[in-house]
Amino acid sequence: MKVLFIGDICGKIGRKAVAKILPELKKELKPDLVVANVENLAHGKGVTKTTLDEVFAAGVDWATGGDHSFSNHKQAEEIYNGDLPILRPANYSAGVPGKGCSLIKLGDKKILLINLIGRVFMRMDYDCPFRKLDEILADYAAENLSAIIIDIHAEATSEKIAMSHFADGRASAVLGTHSHVMTADHGITSQGTARITDVGMAGSAEGSLGIEKDDIIKTFLTQIKYPHVIQEKGKAIFNAVLVSIDPKTAKAKSIKPIIKFTEIK
Ligand SMILES: [Fe+2]
Ligand SMILES: [Fe+2]
Repeated sequence: MKVLFIGDICGKIGRKAVAKILPELKKELKPDLVVANVENLAHGKGVTKTTLDEVFAAGVDWATGGDHSFSNHKQAEEIYNGDLPILRPANYSAGVPGKGCSLIKLGDKKILLINLIGRVFMRMDYDCPFRKLDEILADYAAENLSAIIIDIHAEATSEKIAMSHFADGRASAVLGTHSHVMTADHGITSQGTARITDVGMAGSAEGSLGIEKDDIIKTFLTQIKYPHVIQEKGKAIFNAVLVSIDPKTAKAKSIKPIIKFTEIK
């Protein structure tokens, strides 16, 4: 069983890169499930129904989120409380719209997709992602799961690595998101958990983490926060990982990083 996981899709240029690259990639890799982190989907902050429809039409099956999941407050109830295949981190406070995990049925196989958010260097005080993972795994312990995929959306490398150790042998894959830069530490533990500290992003390859570079430099020089601008055209990067899993054991067999570039006009 193969799961293709795309890093944070950032703005229109990221959506266009996914629409351009994903259909061919699916023909080549034949993943059973395509998951993408969409916290930056709508102009870098949050999601809208229209932008989600765009990436679902391009071939994304399920979406995960992070600290920007609720940046578009107006559509939050509609997007997260409806039937859309979208998660927000499970360790948001109780009462927040949406859900943080889902049991996805693919034929006779069951995949548990879990979205968590870290707390180190993050602006909000989320509930403990480690204890939340224990709770979720206990809730689904009776299910005969073919795969357990975790998106840990966090800033600190240490927290994401700690999560992969914490979930070692209990999850098929622990995949980091949020930093927008793919890390070179992909691998499989002795207990059969695939992991990477950060998958990266789909977005502008010419700016800083998907954002136009000039205003980012001005912000660093002045310590005045300039609004983020996302280039709509130019060179785009597409980062993803392909995780191959043995559905009988839910253990990972391989994890392959995918880095592609395309020109968006
Ligand atoms: Fe992000
Ligand atoms: Fe984030």
